[in-house]
Amino acid sequence: MKLVALKSSIDRKPRADDFTIVETAAPECPEGSVLARVVYVSLDPYVGSRIRGRHMGEAPPSPMEEAIPGAVIAQVTQSRSPDYAEGDYVFSMDGGWAEYVALDAGACRKIDPDAAPLRANLGVLGMPGLTAWAGITQLAEVGAGDIVLVDAAAGTVGGAVGQISRLNGASRVVGIAGGPEKCALVENTYGFDACIDYKSDGWRDRLAAALPDGLTVFFENVSADMAMIALGHAQPYARGVLCGLVDAYHTEEQATHPLNAGFIIGKRAKVMGLVVYDFYPCWDEFAAEAAPWVRDGRLQVAEDIVNGLENASALFEKLMDGRNIGKCLVKVSDEAA
Ligand SMILES: NC(=O)c1ccc[n+]([C@@H]2O[C@H](COP(=O)([O-])OP(=O)(O)OC[C@H]3O[C@@H](n4cnc5c(N)ncnc54)[C@H](OP(=O)(O)O)[C@@H]3O)[C@@H](O)[C@H]2O)c1
Repeated sequence: MKLVALKSSIDRKPRADDFTIVETAAPECPEGSVLARVVYVSLDPYVGSRIRGRHMGEAPPSPMEEAIPGAVIAQVTQSRSPDYAEGDYVFSMDGGWAEYVALDAGACRKIDPDAAPLRANLGVLGMPGLTAWAGITQLAEVGAGDIVLVDAAAGTVGGAVGQISRLNGASRVVGIAGGPEKCALVENTYGFDACIDYKSDGWRDRLAAALPDGLTVFFENVSADMAMIALGHAQPYARGVLCGLVDAYHTEEQATHPLNAGFIIGKRAKVMGLVVYDFYPCWDEFAAEAAPWVRDGRLQVAEDIVNGLENASALFEKLMDGRNIGKCLVKVSDEAA
């Protein structure tokens, strides 16, 4: 079978040329595991940090040997677990860029292919959707009348933040995104009240105009600088969720991300860090609530999708450069066997 591996270890932003296809035997299926045919692989920003050993203390994959890690939707071809049968579709965060993966049964979730499109389980129903849902419903506790600002708003997390905020009663939802195409998607498809293109002149004035009454919640995906800009619009007692600092993931030195403490005190703001791992126990609750939203189109994300493992590295480079529009997916094999 094929897998995609690093050619050699790297300690900088990954480029497409850092990866290569390796031919290898299909993995063994130990007791308590399943062997599964990968249908979709998810490409996510944390993977860029993970493969250089910068993510949550997790080891990088061995060059020329191990598949690049990633969440997958896969179909079980062999089961040595009583919880899974051949033919079941599963989701796992412990998959990789490979045609087949062996997965510990405890690290899989069974997917109902009729509940929503299969690949939604990597996007708005997957880890990024859970991240948005957790930040909005469990941390910021968005409700009626809230005014929410989120950046990287065309992405899976950012887009879901706005849509889930609205579904929980927010009165106004404003996004920040890079470029007119992304902003049009955020306003027209995700239904935000406004989306401000931070790459255009005068954007800070347009942001102020889009938030005439300030904000009560901000959700930070990009940088401490953006969080400070959001805080500048905060009403007293605003809540802020710090979810990601993607602008600094590949800076050469580990950034210190300073926040202005006096500003936070003056605003009486409550600023919270979010790590989605803490919310895995809520996955069933989230999925039950969000699947109907996905089915009836109230929770959407654009997809940046390529066919075949040989095209994964080029899409990954696009994601690393922030040129992706929506959820990045690699289709590895057909949904039906
Ligand atoms: N805390 C957690 O547990 C957790 C879990 C999942 C995701 N996250 C974080 O949530 C954020 C969004 O994730 P996502 O999967 O939905 O990704 P995404 O938004 O689809 O992609 C990242 C976006 O970030 C923006 N960006 C700004 N500066 C960038 C830079 N220097 N390099 C690359 N991209 C840049 C780009 O959009 P614009 O062009 O619009 O700026 C880019 O499209 C990321 O920070 C991610 O790490 C955190």
